[in-house]
Amino acid sequence: MTPLTTGFGHGKVILFGEHAVVYGQPAIAAGLSAGVRAQISEGTGIVTAPGWELDLQIGDESLPGRAIASLCEAYQVEKNQIDIWMDTEIPGRAGLGSSAAMATAIARALSERSPLSIDMVKAIMACESFFHQTPSGIDSAAAREGGVGHYEKSVGWIPITLPASLELCIGLSGEHHDTGEQVSKVRGLVQKVHMTHQLLEMMGDLARAGENALTTGDHAELGHLMNFAHGLLAAIGVSTPLLDTLVHAARSAGALGAKLTGAGGGGAVVALAPGKGDEILRQWRSLGYYGFLTTIGHD
Ligand code: PMV
Repeated sequence: MTPLTTGFGHGKVILFGEHAVVYGQPAIAAGLSAGVRAQISEGTGIVTAPGWELDLQIGDESLPGRAIASLCEAYQVEKNQIDIWMDTEIPGRAGLGSSAAMATAIARALSERSPLSIDMVKAIMACESFFHQTPSGIDSAAAREGGVGHYEKSVGWIPITLPASLELCIGLSGEHHDTGEQVSKVRGLVQKVHMTHQLLEMMGDLARAGENALTTGDHAELGHLMNFAHGLLAAIGVSTPLLDTLVHAARSAGALGAKLTGAGGGGAVVALAPGKGDEILRQWRSLGYYGFLTTIGHD
C-alpha cells in the first residue's frame, strides 16, 4: 500500500505584464506563501477541497475533474484508486493562480506515487490548459518556484532578488473571473484593433521598469508604474467598475500604487502601501470587501 503523499503549490500575484505575457512580453510575478496543499491516499477517485466547496470524481465532466484526470494519466496513476484532499489557502477564480497552485500541488503528490520520470512542467501546463486554454506558463512557474520572478514565455522564470521584503495588500472583489474568457477577449481586440499591440508592448516596458524599481527598492516609482499598468489593463477592457473602485479606494487610503492583478474581469487587486497595509484593508472593508496582507521577497 502506497503511503499518503503530499504536495504544495504557491498562489501568485502578478505585479506587471498580465495578458501582455501571452504575446511574448516580460511579466513580473511573485509566488505567495499561501497556496494549495494536496494529500493523496488510496481511495476511489474522490476529490475534496472544502475551502472551494469542491467535491467531485476524478474524470467526471467538470473542468477540475477532467484537468485532474489529465494529471493522473500523465503520471500513470489509476484515477479510481486514489482520493485527493486539498487544503486551499487562497480563493478560487480570483486571479491568484488557484488552478496552477492546485495542479502543482497534485502533480507533486502524484510524482511520489509514480515510478515514471515525468516532465512536471509539461504535465502541469497540460492540466492548466483546461482552465486557461493557452496559458503563458506564468502561473505555473510562480506556483512551482515561489519567490519573485521575471517570466517570459521564451526564457521561463528568472528569480529576482529584492533589497528588502515588500508588503503588498491584496483586495478581493468577490467577482469570480474566467481567465480563458478574458484572454479570448484580449485576443479579439488584438485582431480587431492594431494599436492593441502597442499597448501590450508598453505593458512589457512597464514590467522591465518595474523590475528595476523592485531591485533598487524605489517604491515611489514602483507605485507609479503599477498605476500606469492598471490604466493599460483598463484600456484593453479587462478591468471592471468594482476593480476600479478597489484600486481608487486603495490609492485614496495612501497606497503608492494599485492595480488589478491576474486576468481581470473580476478577481483581485494589488496595492503597494508600505506601513499602511491595515489602512488599506480597513478602507476596502468599509466598502464591504475583504483583503489580506502578504510579504514578498523574503528568503
Ligand atoms: O490566472 P490569472 O487569472 O491570474 O491570469 C493569468 C495571467 C494571464 O496573463 C491573463 C494569462 C496567462 O496565461 O498568462
